[in-house]
Amino acid sequence: MKEPNRKAVSRRTVLRGAAGAAVLGATPALVRAPALAGAAAVKVGVLLPYSGTYARLGSAITNAMKLYVDQNDGKLGGRSIEFVQIDSEAKPPKAPELTTKLISSHKVDILVGPVHSGVAMGMAKIAREEGTITIIPNAGADQITGALCAPNVFRTSFTNSQPGLACGKPMYEDGMRTAVSCFWNYGAGKQSASGFRESFETAGGKVVKEIGVPFPDVEFQSALTEIASIGPDAVYVFFAGGGAVKWVKDYAAAGLMDRIKLYGAGFITEGVTEAQGEAAEGVRSTLHYADTLDNRENVAFRKAYKKAFGNEADVYAVQGYDTSHLIDVGLTAVSGDTGARDDLIAAMAGAKFASPRGPFQLSKAHNPIQNFYLREVRNGVNEVIRIAVEALEDPAKGCKLS
Ligand code: PHB
Repeated sequence: MKEPNRKAVSRRTVLRGAAGAAVLGATPALVRAPALAGAAAVKVGVLLPYSGTYARLGSAITNAMKLYVDQNDGKLGGRSIEFVQIDSEAKPPKAPELTTKLISSHKVDILVGPVHSGVAMGMAKIAREEGTITIIPNAGADQITGALCAPNVFRTSFTNSQPGLACGKPMYEDGMRTAVSCFWNYGAGKQSASGFRESFETAGGKVVKEIGVPFPDVEFQSALTEIASIGPDAVYVFFAGGGAVKWVKDYAAAGLMDRIKLYGAGFITEGVTEAQGEAAEGVRSTLHYADTLDNRENVAFRKAYKKAFGNEADVYAVQGYDTSHLIDVGLTAVSGDTGARDDLIAAMAGAKFASPRGPFQLSKAHNPIQNFYLREVRNGVNEVIRIAVEALEDPAKGCKLS
């Protein structure tokens, strides 16, 4: 492993210098001057999709990250923030080059990204080697807070298995006994479906078929035909963004909505109910967020987001907002000194704040411990029905952080 990246001048180094100067007769005023006043902006390198099927996810995360900074007069921990954005295109093979570009060419202090689990695997590998503090505002790859966990890598979203683990029991309680799962056939979809299988079969149900669709294809006809011919009680899906819009419309157009109940990881209806229209009504899903969560932070956040961007906030926006909040907690603890890396990391790991999703806190593996809600789309809104699993912690299999 390479020596961790310590580009920024440590505030302690500056203070040590100032203290030394005081001994040599510097004025007390000079000693008291804030060490980092006038320091350059903290550079936050953002690797998110701004094109392709996940483009709207990347925009929501970015918008809300900026909203948080704007609401704090453009500063976190007393430092102004400069965002350097690169389009990941949700293409895993591009991740190493683009991550290296942010770290080595743009010399960012903190990395944020990505949305896609495959991109996350490449990005996190480099972040681990370089030691760059990294916050993942969406990608749920289980390994990142499992066997590949690292002290400098944080996640403000979820692990892929979590929404699936939360969905099996409520589906069984709804009377579903057999299910087919259908998902984009890469890490995120597979882990989501495997969490679902575990929880549905533990509850007493049976997953009779798992159907993978290549990412980012939206040709769903053969999957829909197969589902119709199997005729299970229900379907559990993992699709998001543009693919989620198409799936729900195609499922309704195939006449399956009334015959085979549709469930999914909540991404199936996040940020897309308007585009899905009537077809989304009644779709049930599990997620760590719902539009109608009735807490002060959520109400204020949704209002501010709508005012700033003209559209409704969603889970991706919440994750972006909390990403800036987490950076704020870290930078505030070290008075804006990005060189005080260990203290910054410790403050982030111990962060506790009120998020629009409810109380925010991280597990030892740096993944949120959070409620998962059963939701249903009613009049275009993801409404909470009830808590499906309370304070669900990441399984963190193989993570050695303590
Ligand atoms: C992922 O690839 O981890 C992923 C992508 C989109 C989502 C959720 C997870 O909505």
